[in-house]
Amino acid sequence: MSFGKIIATARYLPEKIVTNDDLAEWMDTSDEWIQSRTGIKQRHIAEAENTSDMCLQVAKKLVDKAAIDPLSLDFVIVATMSPDYTSPSVACQVQGQLGAKQAMAFDVAAACAGFVYALATAENFMRSGMKRGIVIGGEKTSKLLDWQDRSSAVLFGDGAAGVLLEASEEPSIIKQMLRADGERASSLTSGFRNNCNVFYEGSETSTALAMDGRGIWNFALNDVTKSLKEFIGDESVDYYLLHQANKRIIEKMARKMNEPIEKFPMNLMNYGNTSAASIPILLDELVEANILSLNSNQKVVLTGYGGGLAWGNLLIQL
Ligand code: ACO
Repeated sequence: MSFGKIIATARYLPEKIVTNDDLAEWMDTSDEWIQSRTGIKQRHIAEAENTSDMCLQVAKKLVDKAAIDPLSLDFVIVATMSPDYTSPSVACQVQGQLGAKQAMAFDVAAACAGFVYALATAENFMRSGMKRGIVIGGEKTSKLLDWQDRSSAVLFGDGAAGVLLEASEEPSIIKQMLRADGERASSLTSGFRNNCNVFYEGSETSTALAMDGRGIWNFALNDVTKSLKEFIGDESVDYYLLHQANKRIIEKMARKMNEPIEKFPMNLMNYGNTSAASIPILLDELVEANILSLNSNQKVVLTGYGGGLAWGNLLIQL
């Protein structure tokens, strides 16, 4: 049996930066409120670009960095909660524009846990004989938001990032744990599709992202932290790459894990919550900064959590 190994990482952030002060010019909020509650200072916002455009940029960078022929890819998997269309998938759009004609392609919908779910799925394909593939988390969250709702609009940002996996003799994605609790589905909803068939005369519902902020906060600090503790056991871990939603959540999780905060790198101040893109953006930045090195044997844990509710942990030996 062969396994998946990350041989390249890449990210793409749209050019436009919107600071907290920019938002405060037309929204009843302040830099002080946003930073003190979340740690976020600014976010990137995609103007004309859609999710597939950002994911395609990531896919092209991955193929260039690894110097491979797109025809050699067995799969393209995209994690997103903000696809361009319900159909085709973002992954099919990327596959077509990249020229990865031999690759199967599909999207994974697990909100902010999407990248962890997608990478775990990809690893299972690698274990069943596939040789090479791309996994991307990409989001244009800005199109999901009610920009009049200050309690959610200030939290999110756009971006995409991903990894290229190649077959290896030794396991690199050592352990995976994926969880969900659909009974709490209403804690975070987004993109409801109104029933517009001609036989229905019911009322319209809001399609904008709506979140029970306190509920998600408690879920992160209780359920997600408990699962992470169970998942780690006695393992020694070099870095924890947690979903980048809120600085205070990450600090509290580090304390509950009895681990130094230095093991929990953060970049949410620059990007806000980019949902499925947050973990791979962080991974790529750490690789670029030589804090993480591919082939170093460093042990990292990726933990994603969010709408669904869905959450998951992966232990990776780089
Ligand atoms: N600016 C100024 N004031 C605001 C803003 C804002 N942007 N937003 C809310 N407020 C006000 C509220 O109206 C409220 O005022 P009131 O007391 O007069 O009613 C007050 O600030 C406090 O609001 P809370 O919601 O209680 O603030 P809290 O400290 O709980 O922070 C937050 C809210 C940041 C959303 C926090 O609950 C949180 O981070 N939750 C977790 C969210 C998360 O992690 N989501 C990830 C999953 S995302 C995914 O899956 C896509």
